[in-house]
Amino acid sequence: MSRNIAVILAAGKGVRMRSELPKVMHKVANLPMITHVVRAARAAGVDNIVVVTGHGREQLMESLAGEGLAFVVQEQQLGTGHALMQAGGLAGPDDTIMVLCGDTPLLRGDTLKNLLAYHHQTGAVATVLTTRVKNPAGYGRIVRDQSGRLERIVEDKDASPEIKAIDEINSGMYCFQAGPVFAALQDIEPVNAQGEYYLTDVLPLFLAQGLPVEVLLHPDEEELYGVNDRIQLAYAERVLRRRKNHDLMTGGVTIMDPATTFIDVDVRIGMDTVILPFTIIAGDTTIGSNCTIGPGSHIIDSSLGNNVVVENSKLLECQVDDDCTIGPFAYLRPQAVLKRGAKVGDFVEIKKSTIGEKSKVPHLAYVGDALVGTGVNIGAGTITCNYDGRNKHVTVIEDGAFIGSNTNLVAPVRIGKNATTGAGSTITKEVPDEALGVERARQKNISDWAKRKNSPDDAS
Ligand code: UD1
Ligand code: CA
Repeated sequence: MSRNIAVILAAGKGVRMRSELPKVMHKVANLPMITHVVRAARAAGVDNIVVVTGHGREQLMESLAGEGLAFVVQEQQLGTGHALMQAGGLAGPDDTIMVLCGDTPLLRGDTLKNLLAYHHQTGAVATVLTTRVKNPAGYGRIVRDQSGRLERIVEDKDASPEIKAIDEINSGMYCFQAGPVFAALQDIEPVNAQGEYYLTDVLPLFLAQGLPVEVLLHPDEEELYGVNDRIQLAYAERVLRRRKNHDLMTGGVTIMDPATTFIDVDVRIGMDTVILPFTIIAGDTTIGSNCTIGPGSHIIDSSLGNNVVVENSKLLECQVDDDCTIGPFAYLRPQAVLKRGAKVGDFVEIKKSTIGEKSKVPHLAYVGDALVGTGVNIGAGTITCNYDGRNKHVTVIEDGAFIGSNTNLVAPVRIGKNATTGAGSTITKEVPDEALGVERARQKNISDWAKRKNSPDDAS
């Protein structure tokens, strides 16, 4: 049975990035560029994906491990034709090879689906995806004959001024019949300005043999954009962000200022949620409907319910149920869980703790490794002393407890149901249900202290 196989060329160094990191590993919208290309191939229904690696291949293979990709190595980067040759052993003669580059993160699945469909429908041995661009410098130019059929592709470095004037360019994406392309690759020669084996040189060979070659002109130049340096990387970033914001707004999310809002591609947000400026929502994050997020918030790998308010806060790997309010200036760290209607206010840090329904930690507190029941109030300045220098210990605060301001809860410790701690207490022992735990010296008043303090008799 013939298969569709995507071969992603990614062995090049990407010199212009000026980086230790392989070019295709640089991130756009928080995902390596090559991951966007892999996703586009998958979205087009292509599940056999081969990556041609070379420079930085250990890093590349490690970061893409577990994604179900096959890898081949191109030891020396002798050109795009030579790169594709390395994948020859993985294909049967009747397979279709879709060649992609690892540095085109703006590519969409639908475009590749069209390319494959067109290639199969015309029965061509090769189909080249092209587009017209405002500035064709650097690209291979599409040279057509008088009848408009493709004649050859001329690289910028090999082009005469007349050819440089052509604005239709080679996207570097193609479909080929495997048998003919791997045969033709044996016959190309590195005779050009760069001394490389150009993949594009198989096309005139096909034409000379009378084999049909097709061109599919894509209307959207932006989508085929290739990233070669960090300025182009920033451009791709902006495009992907804009697309994501558009999708969310179309889906009923208000984004007050898309220019200062950064939302990763996998983030899901419900209807009527409002995102205020200077907000970053990253990774695998879900936000429900009717929430207000921002301004100035940073939410990473977290899950938020409906009607949640987050103001000027950072949330990392946490879970927030419906109707909670957070901030301003709260820091929720991994495994913070806020149950329905909980409130975490200003300058509060929560780590690996559950805050029960309708419980409040309104100001200036640290709650770590704690289980807090429902309807609890934790006073300002309260600290769970969860770390003894070696181990972390758990604080349990039962339903309805009232923790007085500036309480130190030295873990492991339990505060019973409806119990109270006196303000300023350092609690080291269990406070039973309904009890008051207070630990501090009784207040003593010394009368006329101000006068005595200033008298010369006391100077000694
Ligand atoms: C190539 C095309 C050009 C096209 C452009 C689109 C050729 C000869 N030219 O030029 O017509 O307009 O892409 O962006 O094909 N690579 C390898 N091994 C190599 C060389 C390259 O894996 O030996 C990979 C690179 O990592 C990159 C891709 O192939 O992902 C394209 O290589 P690059 O050097 O950027 O080709 P261009 O000169 O841009
Ligand atoms: Ca390129």
